[in-house]
Amino acid sequence: MVISGHPELEKSYANSFILNQLDQKLDNLNIRRLDELYPDYNIGVESEQQALLKADVIVLQFPLYWYSVPGLLKKWLDDVLTFNFAFGPEGNKLKGKHLILSITVGGPEDSYEPLGYNHFTIEQFVYPLQQTAYLAGMDYQKPIYTHGMVYIEGVYNKLEDVQAKAAEHSQRLIDAINYSLHSDEVKIKRFVEQWFNQFDLLPEDSSYFTKRLSSDLHLVMPEGEFTGHDGFRDWYATARSAIKPNGDHQVQQLTISAIEEGYQLDLRIKLVAETFADSHFKGQLLDLQVDETWQITLNEYGDITIHDYVVNL
Ligand SMILES: Cc1cc2nc3c(=O)[nH]c(=O)nc-3n(C[C@H](O)[C@H](O)[C@H](O)COP(=O)(O)O)c2cc1C
Repeated sequence: MVISGHPELEKSYANSFILNQLDQKLDNLNIRRLDELYPDYNIGVESEQQALLKADVIVLQFPLYWYSVPGLLKKWLDDVLTFNFAFGPEGNKLKGKHLILSITVGGPEDSYEPLGYNHFTIEQFVYPLQQTAYLAGMDYQKPIYTHGMVYIEGVYNKLEDVQAKAAEHSQRLIDAINYSLHSDEVKIKRFVEQWFNQFDLLPEDSSYFTKRLSSDLHLVMPEGEFTGHDGFRDWYATARSAIKPNGDHQVQQLTISAIEEGYQLDLRIKLVAETFADSHFKGQLLDLQVDETWQITLNEYGDITIHDYVVNL
């Protein structure tokens, strides 16, 4: 999903060029031109939030205006990133989504450094957006930006130079989007998020899990060691008899390392869940941190299989 924050694309050279390139070269792209959708700055919060929910990767495409986002995009951020959507106790709706800033900058590169007349780097000017992403649990990516993008006939730059830079910018942005969509790292992160979302629900049917476990799974839990799908089902039945559904598994740390076959994942998980009174937890609230080590493989279709699953309290 690309949010275009330019207030008047009809008069744009750089942003309109980049948006057209994206439109031509990427499938499954939802480009939202805020200037067309909301010429009166009256943002449709519900439709924007629905569109965000469907997106894996979110791009904010904008020209740098007074070292920040244009007012239209600021209004979009203020209106759309609401309590219990982007922040607050249930405000996890953007969690795990990738955010890419794509910025056209008028001033030259050497002005955006300590001794230049703009003093600060682009990365520094966009700190508020970076922290907004962190607060919303989004995965903030390196911003894509290009300097010297202003074109005023006879005053600043040549149109063909600005367009050539916009073409190069578009390609970098397309590469970043593709990386976000298709990298092993992203697939693994998404897999881990979904895995623990299912563990929050604790469905009676364990097939969501077994489909993602190898038939010779080696599972080491505080309760003991288990092997294969039958072993997993035994452990899962015990877990379901003790822990109530709708707990909360939070992935606090995830380190992914390549190993000979596939990847090793080192995870730190915070688990908060209610327990049944007749279980060995005696109905007390579970609130604990566990370290987990998984060994997984990823096939050519992007399917992930867990082979080794070790949990330490
Ligand atoms: C209101 C306004 C504020 C701007 N502020 C900045 C700025 O702070 N720094 C900068 O380098 N360029 C600034 N510019 C230049 C724009 O960033 C540049 O014109 C734009 O990126 C070109 O993209 P476009 O052809 O799609 O409009 C500003 C332009 C306008 C109209």
